[in-house]
Order: sequence, then structure tokens, then C-alpha cells
Amino acid sequence: MTLSRRTFLAATLALPATPPIAEPLPLRVLARRKGLAYGCCVTCGALDQPDLAQAILREAGLLVPEWEAKRGRVEKRRGHLDFSAADRLAGFAAAHAMAFRGHALVWHLSNPAWLEEVLAAPAPDRALLTDYVTAAVGHFRGRVSSWDVVNEAVEPKDGRPDGLRDSPWLRAFGPGYLDAAFHAARAADPAAELVYNDYGLDTPDAWQQDRQRVVLRLLAGFRARGVPCDALGIQGHLKAFSGTFDAGHFRRFLGEVAALGYGVVITEMDVADEGGPADAVARGRAQAALARRYLDAALAEPATRAVVTWGLSDRTTWLKGQHPLPFDESLHRKPLWHAIAAAFAAAPPRPRK
Ligand code: G3I
Repeated sequence: MTLSRRTFLAATLALPATPPIAEPLPLRVLARRKGLAYGCCVTCGALDQPDLAQAILREAGLLVPEWEAKRGRVEKRRGHLDFSAADRLAGFAAAHAMAFRGHALVWHLSNPAWLEEVLAAPAPDRALLTDYVTAAVGHFRGRVSSWDVVNEAVEPKDGRPDGLRDSPWLRAFGPGYLDAAFHAARAADPAAELVYNDYGLDTPDAWQQDRQRVVLRLLAGFRARGVPCDALGIQGHLKAFSGTFDAGHFRRFLGEVAALGYGVVITEMDVADEGGPADAVARGRAQAALARRYLDAALAEPATRAVVTWGLSDRTTWLKGQHPLPFDESLHRKPLWHAIAAAFAAAPPRPRK
């Protein structure tokens, strides 16, 4: 029996008989090649899992704390700011030359109980808002490249003419709370990108169109008043089997955002398979197809500068059982990973900064 060259060499030089399957290039590399950033949200719990931490290191060029930088975690007791958990995540990012996004300074959820009570009391002091923003942004100055300053302030269903959410912040300080938050953040770290972040901005469904219209009015108002907001964060929580994605509609919306002078960050992308068929392969294929269409449209807009998935592996997703992330629970790449990779590979390159 004649041995093949490779088998002979393998036998004599202890070379692998079959070449190791080349690892695909990580998403962060594919993104960076086009002047984009790719990352994912992370928790301290995720970093405590060595295999997951390794995968995050390999794939992500940017991290966002899923929980650790929210006020409910940072200021459990009034006036006592504990950034230790968020500092650990920021330190991990810095140690591995990863960018770090801050999330989220002002939100109607995940606030400590004491804050909800004080905001609901008569004539609350606006320092409750601006002092916290100043302290948090100041604490991370130089370590956070981009902040979600205000999160999810739009809710047309609340019936206000301006379409804003009837949140504790709005009831306490009026619509000007958004402006105050952005001005405080800019003063605390002039170099950080300041982002308004929201969901339901992806499809032509009527409720999402309402939200898009309100967000555009909000962003135009920021410009008119000189509010230092730099980019719109589009969360991108997609559903493969609900709603309809229309690439042209989405591109027009992104074009209107860019025309107002804003960048675009896809801040929390995941693609749920709820309502899909029993066949997991069919569900995975549909998730990948939607992700590719969505990212092709998003990345066709030159103002889009980063894509963040809300987690890396289904092991840690907030959408339990809906398999929405690029890696499965055993950290195997899914069709969704390949769709994101293909979208980065096909994306038009961004002009070098
Ligand atoms: O870890 C603490 C635990 O120590 C504590 O005892 C317990 C008390 O409630 O809370 C635990 O923290 C939980 C945290 O996730 C960490 O797992 C919070 O309860 C829980 O509310 C929190 O949920 C997060 C949620 O935002 C609210 O902050 C989800 O993980 C996170 O995926 C989700 O992310 C949001 C974005 O911030 C904004 N856009 C929507 C997105 C999905 O809801």
C-alpha cells in the first residue's frame, strides 16, 4: 500500500495527517477590516466561564455591560456609588484592547427602589439626574468610548403629543430631562460618543413607524437646541417569525437619521426564533437570513459604525429558549454567526478616521 505524501510525513514528522480546520476569522476582525466595530454585551458571570470568556475575547472588539453599569446595580443605596462590577468589565476590555460602551445612564427601568420613591415625591431635585450622570461618566472618563446616555425615552402609546414615555424622569423633570442628561455627560467626558438608545425602530409595522417618527422628531429637536447627542442607538431585537423587515424602509429611516448629522450604532442585536417551526435547522436558517438582510441594510448606511449583539452565546441570552445569538450554548457557531460574518465581509468599507 503506497502512503500518501501527507500521511507519510505525518507518520515520520508527527505532522497532523489532516490539516487543522482553519478557524474562521473572528467577527471583530471582519468588522475592523471595513472600519466597523463588532462586540457584545457581557456580565461578570459570563467572564467567570473560561470557555465563554475565551470566545468573547476571540470574537469581540467591543464590550457593553449588560447589567453592571445600570443604576440599580451601581447605586443600591442613595449616594453610595459602587462601580466595582462595571470596573471589572472595563478592566477586562482595557486589558485586551477592546472598546467599552457604557449602558445606561438614564432609563425608566433597573433603578434602585429609593430613586423611584424620590422621583415620585413633590419637586424632586434635578441633581438626582445630573449629579449621577456626572459621577458615572466622570468615573469612566477615558475608559468608555460611547455611552447610552438616555435609554428608551420614546413611547407613543403613552399618548403624549411629543410621543415621549410617561416615565418617572419625565414626570419629575419634564421633557428637558433628556437635554440635561446629555449636557451633563458631555461636560463629564467631552471625548465620549453620546448615544440616544431605543428599540422598535427596525420594521414598517405601524407601531414601529410611530416610534421612528417620534425618534426623528426627538433627534431633530436635539439638533435645534444644541443638545450634544452624537448617535442613535438602534437596539435591533429582531424576531425571525414575527413582523416584517423591509430593507428599503429601514435604509430610508437610517438615511433620515444620518441626514440629521447622527451616527448609527446597532446596540443590542439578537434574532429570536419564537414562533418558528419545530425544525431547528429551518429556524436557524430563517434567523440567519433576517440577520443578513438587516445588517446589509444597516451597513449600507455609511453612518453606521458598530454592531453589538446582546450577548455572544445563547447560554447567556435574556431571551431564554429563543436561540437569538451567534453561538449556541456549547459555543458552536450557528448560521447566525455566518450571516453576521458575511454581512461584514460584504459591507462597504468606512472611510478611515
Ligand atoms: O444579579 C442580580 C442579583 O445579584 C440580584 O439579587 C437580583 C435582584 O433582582 O438582580 C440580578 O440582576 C439581574 C440582572 O439582569 C443580571 O442578571 C436583574 O434582576 C435583571 O433585571 C437584569 O435583567 C436585565 C434587564 O436588561 C434589566 O436590566 C437583562 O439581563 C438585560 O438583558 C436587559 O437588557 C435590556 C437593555 O438593558 C435595554 N434594552 C432592552 C434589553 C432587554 O430587556
